[in-house]
This record gives sequence, C-alpha cells and structure tokens, in this order.
Amino acid sequence: MAKISFLNGEFIEHSKAMVHIDDRAMQFADSIYEVTLVHNNKLIDGELHWQRLINSLEKMKIRINYTVKQLDDFAQQLIRQNDIVTGSLYVQITRGVAPRNQLLPENIKPTVIMTISEFKLPVAEILDKAVKTISQPDIRWQMCDVKSTGLLIGSLYKQKAADANCDDVIMLRDNVVTECCFSNIFIVKNQQLITHPLDNHILAGITRHRIIELTKQIDIKVIERKFKFDELLEADEVFSSSTTTFVRPIHIVDNQMIKDGATGRVTRELFNSYLKFVQST
Ligand code: PDD
Repeated sequence: MAKISFLNGEFIEHSKAMVHIDDRAMQFADSIYEVTLVHNNKLIDGELHWQRLINSLEKMKIRINYTVKQLDDFAQQLIRQNDIVTGSLYVQITRGVAPRNQLLPENIKPTVIMTISEFKLPVAEILDKAVKTISQPDIRWQMCDVKSTGLLIGSLYKQKAADANCDDVIMLRDNVVTECCFSNIFIVKNQQLITHPLDNHILAGITRHRIIELTKQIDIKVIERKFKFDELLEADEVFSSSTTTFVRPIHIVDNQMIKDGATGRVTRELFNSYLKFVQST
C-alpha cells in the first residue's frame, strides 16, 4: 500500500506530494511543526500538541485557514488511510508561497502538510544501553519556545555527537543547562526532580509536561528552575524526554560518568509510568 500524505486539504500519494520552490519554508524556514505519537490509532496528548501548534503559529504571526477540529479530523483520516496503529504524526505549517521578500506577505495561504510513519514503542531494555553525550554552547535563537523548523543547530550538534561516538548534545546557555538537541532534560538530586523552567530558552515539551504530571504517582518533588552544568555532573540521575524517545537516561557527559553510570530508579519509574500512560490511552 502506497503511503498517503496530506497536503493543503488533499490526501495524496506521498511520492507525489510536492511543495512550490517559492514556499517561505525554503528561503526563511518560515514554518512551524509538531511531532505527535499515535497509539491504538489515537493521538497521544493530541490536544496539547494542537495547542502548542497554535501558540507557535501565533508567535510567528502565521494565519491558519483551518480550525484545530479540522486539523484533528485530517490527522484521524490520515491515520485511517495509512492503517497506522502505532506511529508518529508530523504536521508542518508554513506561511505559504510568495516571491522572496523579507517583509511578511499579506493575504498569503499557508501550506499545511501532514505525514505519518510507523513507530515502535520503546521497550524497557533500552534503559540498560549506555547513553553518551557531549556538552556544547546553546547558540540557538532566543525563541526556542516556538517549534520552528529552523533546526540546523540541533541537527549539526546531533552530527557532532555522532562523530564523537556519542548519542546527543547537552546545550548550555551561560553555563545553564537548557535542552538536548531535540529533547528536554531533567536531573534528579536528593529525591528532587529538577528541570529548566518554561521560558523562551526551551521548548515546552509535551512529554516534559506529562512526566511532571506522572511524578504525582511517585514520591518525588518537581522543581522547575535553572541549574548549572556542575549541578548536572553531580546529579544522581540525568534523563531527557521527547515524543519519540520517551524518557531516555543519560549516563556519560563529556567522558564523565553520572553517579555510578547506571540508570537510576526515578528514570526507570518515569519511563515505565510514561509507557503505561501511552499504552492505556
Ligand atoms: N522534538 N526540545 C526540543 C528542541 C525538541 O525538538 C523537542 C521535540 C523537545 C521535546 O518536545 P516533546 O516532548 O513535545 O516531543 C524538546 C521532536 C520530537 C522532533 O523534532 O522530532
């Protein structure tokens, strides 16, 4: 069965889904996106993902010609047409097509894209695989709360990590730990879970939000505050979170081991609670 994608109101064969070369996503990365998990044919935390998409659109002053209900209906149709039980939905909205001009064009129709791919839920065994990282300065822009497709720093850093035989980069702004390339980051110290507060320096991860909710089931206090790199190196546990990686331990940072280099109790419990949450949705 050929993969079907959504483009501007139509469901078409993926290989035939084309966007114009003057689309502002090409020249200006003038476009935002969302990645949402699908399980049992349903979007996981769909409402929160749609709300973040609307927030990003508003911050970028991109006007959308569909309601959230319509977008959600399109996504449901795409899930059905591709017969996806567990997958990841990618939604991208660009400002639209216009001759290259630095000013924002008036009365422009956004380009709306949705694609869906099959995805396997992570299994607990991945928690035993050593995850190595390196640190780098966070040189991204000052609007990291917008889920922009301007992702080149994250992509270059991901490659830098791979070239160093590592899995990810931990980014530091003035020595404060912000995020990994494509995920939020948490530390555990003395039975407290600490993560960067929501502001313009991080993306308001939906998995981050869900994890904070899930901590109510385990005996741990959450503190949303900035923390420095030294504090991370001294932590009992470090993990990252995202839609596609769930809860992922971090064992090594710049060749230094976190604690004894094993995945800690809190990370394991949160991985399991998050997996259960997804499976029960
Ligand atoms: N990335 N921070 C950044 C910079 C991200 O790119 C992401 C997600 C997150 C986690 O957000 P969420 O929990 O809502 O997935 C944090 C997605 C998965 C991606 O670009 O593929």
